[in-house]
Amino acid sequence: MCGIVGFTGKTQAAGFLLDGLERLEYRGYDSAGVAVLNGGSFGIEKTTERIKNLMDKTDGGSKLPGTDGIGHTRWATHGAPSYENAHPHTSSSGKFAVVHNGIIENYIQLKDELKADGVNFKSETDTEVIPQLIEKYYEGDFLSAVQKAVSRLEGSYALGILCTDCPGTLIASKKFSPLIIGLSENANFIASDVTAIVSHTKDILYIEDGETAVITPDSVKLYAADKSEVKREKSVINWDIAAAEKSGYDHFMMKEIMEQPAAVAQTVDSRIKGREIVFEGLKLDAEMLRNTDRIEIVACGSAYHAGMVGKYVLEELLRIPTNVDYASEFRYRNPIINNKTLTVIISQSGETADTLAALKEAKRLGSHTLAIVNVVGSSIAKAADDVIYTWAGPEIAVATTKGYSTQLSVFYMLAIWAARQLHSAGSERIERLFDELVRLPELIERVILNEPQIKEMAKQCGDPKSLFFIGRNIDYAVSLEASLKLKEISYIHSEAYAAGELKHGTISLIEEGRTVVALACYEQLFEKLLSNIKEVKARGANVIACAVEGHTEVASEASQVIYIPRTDPLLLASLEVVPFQIYAYYVALYKGCDIDKPRNLAKSVTVE
Ligand code: F6R
Repeated sequence: MCGIVGFTGKTQAAGFLLDGLERLEYRGYDSAGVAVLNGGSFGIEKTTERIKNLMDKTDGGSKLPGTDGIGHTRWATHGAPSYENAHPHTSSSGKFAVVHNGIIENYIQLKDELKADGVNFKSETDTEVIPQLIEKYYEGDFLSAVQKAVSRLEGSYALGILCTDCPGTLIASKKFSPLIIGLSENANFIASDVTAIVSHTKDILYIEDGETAVITPDSVKLYAADKSEVKREKSVINWDIAAAEKSGYDHFMMKEIMEQPAAVAQTVDSRIKGREIVFEGLKLDAEMLRNTDRIEIVACGSAYHAGMVGKYVLEELLRIPTNVDYASEFRYRNPIINNKTLTVIISQSGETADTLAALKEAKRLGSHTLAIVNVVGSSIAKAADDVIYTWAGPEIAVATTKGYSTQLSVFYMLAIWAARQLHSAGSERIERLFDELVRLPELIERVILNEPQIKEMAKQCGDPKSLFFIGRNIDYAVSLEASLKLKEISYIHSEAYAAGELKHGTISLIEEGRTVVALACYEQLFEKLLSNIKEVKARGANVIACAVEGHTEVASEASQVIYIPRTDPLLLASLEVVPFQIYAYYVALYKGCDIDKPRNLAKSVTVE
């Protein structure tokens, strides 16, 4: 997600801000900016290029004199990457400047309210409502205006705020987005992660959700939402820069695995209004859905695997025939599609060359195109008729984890939303599914708790010549993803098979000691999968199984079993993929592989 820095001190602010933003570059960003308070007004500079460009524009910061400042690296969510949408954002009078990390879910309602008061907006961001709201409530008391404004915000935020009336005061506030306060002798700082400040101080004050901090060069006061003062001891961290970038994890991949509950929550919660699912600005509507006689899902790699799960979910709930294809195949196969086909394009990066070409081909043939994309303003997002963003935040590890998980959650939301429009599934089923969807982040957290067991299993895996993943239905779709995760980072050959296909050839490869990972979570086909497990076991396979809690009978067939919580079968993929992301990670770790940058692979495949 976005990066925030803030400074109030006895020395110049700009140098600290630019240095901090440079240290946050690793998180990924599409634009950046700084605001420094000087003599009753803000000096502001922004860029849609690299931080280096911001440094050049400000002559290393010297063109922005002043001892109070805020800075930001933006990862676009609302509004494309542009100069206007880059932070800091100011209020109409220019009295308040704000940097924000997070998503304001009720920004449209707040924007309408402020517009009715005569406020003009300069950007398309959700953030801009914040300085405008603070200005609305300001009657000479900076803290009180901020507290009133944040009490109106729904969603997530970490904020750094300055006011031209209050030199020497930086206000910070936080809810569901990371923010810390750094303490030093001649200045105090804020940052969205330790990386930005660790070279200046190791003394940290943690600010909790719902709290607001009033920070001056030599004091910090914390206030709870009810305005009472909060006392908290400082903490001392002993991370170096490399550890700080990864929030203490050894690799981005593990950090991103662990971020999945939050990424799924961010993607889902911001679309839920009461019991409704709302996709702001979606052109696809009930009439278009009624006119749709086929859905084509097109993507590459893991996004294709998410699409396979999407096929099961959409067909089950919408009863519309759904096909999934690799973008590289789709674009050259002269697909039979027309204006009754809905084409769903999936891409984390939004830049995959084959996927983009497939999207253009679908459009050319008259299909309505809906893209599920993580990177706002990317080529695929711009080219599609409709976009639903996954809000996973920047994904740095080459092997996708939270990108895939958030793609799944968009499919669930899309299917529930469309089934409600079409009345194509029983309302009781849909309501139960909706309840389970809301619980997903908590259920993923529970799966993550199995990490020590999975780590131990990975240790025992060693470096086999080959292994197999099998499953049926959604379990099969997850097998493909689990197998890809393992092979791409550990370089161990692995294959995923629809379990019923084993007998048609592949079973000849099963021999004494061969590991077969059996995904047996899909309840309706559990017995059939159990038979497949018995078949491979009878031929000497060492079986590792994954089953839902309660299906203990699998333990008598498998050498090891990972249990996942029970949920609606359509949501299973989100839970059962997690153990195998962790498994792949540790197998690769024990082999000494370069986990975040596996050989021959790139994060974004922009060539055919
Ligand atoms: C595997 C992986 C790739 C991508 C694929 C598509 O871990 O990350 O298979 O899923 O290259 O990339 P996007 O989603 O950016 O189009």
